[in-house]
Amino acid sequence: MLLQRDTSPASTSRATGFTVVAPGRVNLIGEHTDYNDGLVLPMAIDLSIQITVSPRQDRLAVLQSECASDAVTFDLSRVLVTGGKDWACYPAGVLAGYQRLGWEIPGFDALISATLPSGGGLSSSAALELAIATLIETLCGRSLAFEDKALLCQRAEHEFARVPCGIMDQFAVTFAKAGHALLLDCRDRSMRHVPMLCGEVSVLIINSGVKHSLAGSEYSQRRAQCESAAKLLDVSSLRQASDGDWKTMLTALPLVEQKRARHVITEHERTMTFVAALEQSDWRTAGAAMYGSHDSLRDDFEVSCAELDALVEIAHTIPGVHGCRMTGGGFGGCVVALIETARSPQIMAEFRQAYRKHQGVDAEMFVTRAAAGPRVMSLS
Ligand code: GLA
Repeated sequence: MLLQRDTSPASTSRATGFTVVAPGRVNLIGEHTDYNDGLVLPMAIDLSIQITVSPRQDRLAVLQSECASDAVTFDLSRVLVTGGKDWACYPAGVLAGYQRLGWEIPGFDALISATLPSGGGLSSSAALELAIATLIETLCGRSLAFEDKALLCQRAEHEFARVPCGIMDQFAVTFAKAGHALLLDCRDRSMRHVPMLCGEVSVLIINSGVKHSLAGSEYSQRRAQCESAAKLLDVSSLRQASDGDWKTMLTALPLVEQKRARHVITEHERTMTFVAALEQSDWRTAGAAMYGSHDSLRDDFEVSCAELDALVEIAHTIPGVHGCRMTGGGFGGCVVALIETARSPQIMAEFRQAYRKHQGVDAEMFVTRAAAGPRVMSLS
């Protein structure tokens, strides 16, 4: 079976099968800022979710994931209101989103596989949502504007997975461009693709092996604390507070709100510093912003964990690592590091050895390029 890159994914309806691929993302900097109207700088990565799709004659959607024993079946002639448990809530939420728009989705069989780990902070949920959205659009032969598609997927996550996430992950995957990171201003959703690195430095991702299981409840709590801080400061979002004399303003807040707000405001500054440094190939400054981001997430936002902190501590000791930080929601998952390409084999070996000594387990790690967004391959 040959896979061919399809240049106009959702332009025609399909009688035959096809495969959709949607990448995960890593956030380089700008963490927990999206729901505070701030800046984020994610890029899509080489690991992805693939779905092989065969149209059916009836109105059933039968989804089988390689990592689950049972298939999940949805009757598309009825409006979906729940996806049941686990991973199936993401496809259900996206299907429901298109149903809400009045789309008649034909039946299909889907086999879902992944090179992207789940619970690793690399946005396997957004990848799955966008893969399903691409699948639906291909079956129906039409497509939504990118922004509407990303927002539909975010809503699926809010309503079906009950995670009050910001817009970063779905925008990062939808708007991904090979060789570029996405600088997204979450206040007005303006964006710019920033060319990612020359050959001199690379992006390394290391999985701590800790699944970020607490992320759901802790995430909602952090979001509420930021909203409470903004309210007490009488601003519409913490982004607004960064424009004023924030150091003085924060002293009026209770301690927890003070710390959360300080992270968001300083992370905004670090993100701008990082982008400028990246554009000037100033790796030392970019790396310092990453280390600063990690410290702030650990001490002020309190979303790190011992294993992530250990990886960042190790990074400080390895020559050729410019900077390193936890990435994603936190409480486990991955760190991202900016490293000297020429030393990458030694750097990876040193990380592996030190983490094994520290934790007694091997950490999975890989160097990634900035990948392209969701795409369709026709089966021929
Ligand atoms: C998760 C959420 C994002 C964002 C990050 C933290 O990945 O889905 O919206 O808030 O955490 O930066």
